[in-house]
Amino acid sequence: MKTLFKNIKELIQVREEQVSFLRGKEMSILPTIKNAFLVVENGLISDFGKMKDCPKISDAKVIDASGKLILPTWCDSHTHIVYAGTRETEFVDRINGLSYEDIAKRGGGILNSAKQLQNTSEEDLYIQSKKRLEDVIKLGTGAIEIKSGYGLTLEAELKMLRVIKRLKEEFSIPIKATFLGAHALPEAYKNNKESYVELLVDEMIPKVVEEQLADFIDVFCETGYFSVEETELILKVGRLHGLMPKIHVNQFNAIGGVAVGVKYKAFSVDHLEEMRNEDIEILKNTSTIPVALPGCSYFLGIPYTPARKMIDSGLPLAIATDYNPGSAPSGNMNFVVSTACIKMKMTPEEAINAATINGAYAMGLEQQVGSITKGKLANLILTKPISSYNFMPYSFGNNHIEKIYLKGEAVV
Ligand code: NIG
Ligand code: FE
Repeated sequence: MKTLFKNIKELIQVREEQVSFLRGKEMSILPTIKNAFLVVENGLISDFGKMKDCPKISDAKVIDASGKLILPTWCDSHTHIVYAGTRETEFVDRINGLSYEDIAKRGGGILNSAKQLQNTSEEDLYIQSKKRLEDVIKLGTGAIEIKSGYGLTLEAELKMLRVIKRLKEEFSIPIKATFLGAHALPEAYKNNKESYVELLVDEMIPKVVEEQLADFIDVFCETGYFSVEETELILKVGRLHGLMPKIHVNQFNAIGGVAVGVKYKAFSVDHLEEMRNEDIEILKNTSTIPVALPGCSYFLGIPYTPARKMIDSGLPLAIATDYNPGSAPSGNMNFVVSTACIKMKMTPEEAINAATINGAYAMGLEQQVGSITKGKLANLILTKPISSYNFMPYSFGNNHIEKIYLKGEAVV
């Protein structure tokens, strides 16, 4: 089965060669072809170029993209979309003056979500999560990472991971699963953190690996959650079991977690709202990509990751939604791209690179998605007729997507 997209006003993020990730000044270059064609064969990108070189294909379905742009779908490398219920009561509490920390201290926050999840059946959790995944796909997400971490008991963590596994089986987009048992200290271990860490490393990690339920291991390395030493232990054990790290660090406090991530060759270190110069230095010339989560900064009113400083220092950067019920209840990557431009002063080229190729790298999917490259999945965003790719982040909050194609098939 072949599909030919013709008369594409501009084909965005065209990479002849495979790239792993873009760093520093490279991020300001977004290669495109104006007046282009694109051929999809068996779900993969098989050819593209200028319209004047468009091949005649007799058996192809033809789609006329006059006036419209085509981009690779967004790669959302950090989400928690498998959760139960919502937390809008806490949202109102914050408007009325409580802080995110105050809410967590009185048993709300992650523990509130854990309680709701523990009381939700696996089937119901699947139904709630599937709806969120369908919604973000319509918003242009074509590859996603999903974390556990709202279970906080062996049984409930396995329930979350099984839901992620089912999503992997039932959806055609690439999905990566991350075990985040070290997301918060469960109520039952309030005065006995050591035992919970023991449970994590001795029972939970081996069981998750035995059931092949996770690709990555994550820890919330933060004051009041898991210390640098505990993070190190959990990453070490995770890696021994074949789980590569992707960690939450420097969200509220910079306590040295970035160095641990780099030491254990994390795919990514995420959040980084609080960045010290030494954290930037540690990340230079490593395989670990920093990931900013502008939706979380927006929603909680905390600082934005210093993207300008990081990119100008030569670092790579990916951006993701952090879609979760407490700190970022939105999975809209278009909003994330806009916010990166508006609040973090990233150029549209940098933001689009951060949300595609660099996002793909942050979940180990750079061979499959993230650019218009022959052999990659034909996961595509077809825009409405718009003036340029700059218009997308500029005209924030509006929907510029006409249709999404996954493996070349239109999503209905
Ligand atoms: O990435 N920071 C830790 N975890 C999530 C938020 C968790 C929650 O509030 O439910 C995050 O922001
Ligand atoms: Fe997160």
